[in-house]
Amino acid sequence: MTLVPNVHDAEPIPPAARDAIDALLQSGDLFRYTAPQDAPVALLEAEFAELLGTKYALAVSSCSAALFLSLKALGLPRDARVLIPGFTFAAVPSSVVHAECIPVLCEVGENYRVDMRDFAAKLDNVQAVIISHMRGHTSDMDAIMELCEARDIPVIEDAAHSLGTTWHGRNIGTIGKVGCFSFQSYKMINAGEGGILVSDDADLVARAVIMSGAYEHNWKKHANAPELEQAFARWQNQLPLYNLRISNLSAAVIRPQIPELARRVRDGLANHDYVAERLNSSSYIDVPAPLAPERRAPDSIQFNLVGLSDEDIHTFAAAAEARGVKVQVFGLSQDNARAFWNWQFLPEQVDLPQTRAMLMRACDVRLPVRLTRAELDVITDILLASVGEVVGPVPVYGT
Ligand SMILES: Cc1ncc(COP(=O)(O)O)c(C=O)c1O
Repeated sequence: MTLVPNVHDAEPIPPAARDAIDALLQSGDLFRYTAPQDAPVALLEAEFAELLGTKYALAVSSCSAALFLSLKALGLPRDARVLIPGFTFAAVPSSVVHAECIPVLCEVGENYRVDMRDFAAKLDNVQAVIISHMRGHTSDMDAIMELCEARDIPVIEDAAHSLGTTWHGRNIGTIGKVGCFSFQSYKMINAGEGGILVSDDADLVARAVIMSGAYEHNWKKHANAPELEQAFARWQNQLPLYNLRISNLSAAVIRPQIPELARRVRDGLANHDYVAERLNSSSYIDVPAPLAPERRAPDSIQFNLVGLSDEDIHTFAAAAEARGVKVQVFGLSQDNARAFWNWQFLPEQVDLPQTRAMLMRACDVRLPVRLTRAELDVITDILLASVGEVVGPVPVYGT
């Protein structure tokens, strides 16, 4: 009998990381700027830029740090208004507040993507946009870029959950002016903590590098192109240092996982789609489809409960938990960091009725890519049985 898997365990870190860490422990060379060249962090940046097909990458302490530095590197004035989706993690509006800007929230649809009508309506009063591809669900980047380019509004892609996702075959995170990724656990590449930003804009990257903590002439260890060198020279001594660097130890954990990414994406997508198809057989469950240009890279699944009351949904989540599967209902769990009404630190509060309604029905279950078919079946059976506990035997389409 297959046991309920522990969905909080990630994949083991490839053994090559141990050798690299051992060498670092031997030399004590943990700071990214000690070695004259080829420090693990510098190698990670080169490898990541190549992986995504961008000119530059800057590894930092977290995706939140990458978002904050992106906003600062855009040179936004104090109190600039930054449009963000109403469904994202609290770290995103926090990065906007940290950059002394004002988050403006826009509605998100039942499919977890930015509502383009509300987005377009709110665009005229903002100076920048952050698109969180929440849980890897890609918003309509064609429409977003067209609207933003027409107004010369820079787009930051929060691709924290989207490493490996593509849009028309192009890597998510490379469509806007800058893309930010997370290496925190529960992401496609797991270093416990860490983040990286990618961009083709030399001036933006030079500013971000200096502000990330490349003090004095440490920026020279990033200057791999003449236009970057000129940008660094322009910004020397002009910018504050926020010291959001990442250590060589983290880079040593991340780098051996890069060659694993294609397999993780393939397995994660196959697992997700297998569970999605089974869940969609219930008329009480809806797993929203991807948009046509999107190829996802999921390590979790989100679905909406249809036609159930709040009480039913609590009963469903409790029944699943009793059987060993933790379901997060974004809007129903107390103090959830993805529910916008809990972001009480925002300078401007707003209600988003459509997003609120979605959050009250939207469930989140982790599906780490290492799960076997038998384990996926155990999880899916539990979810379907838990719905059945609330509504009686689950009617199945086509039978
Ligand atoms: C959508 C989203 N954006 C940004 C972040 C911030 O990532 P980090 O923990 O690396 O700062 C998270 C964290 O999980 C997230 O969920």
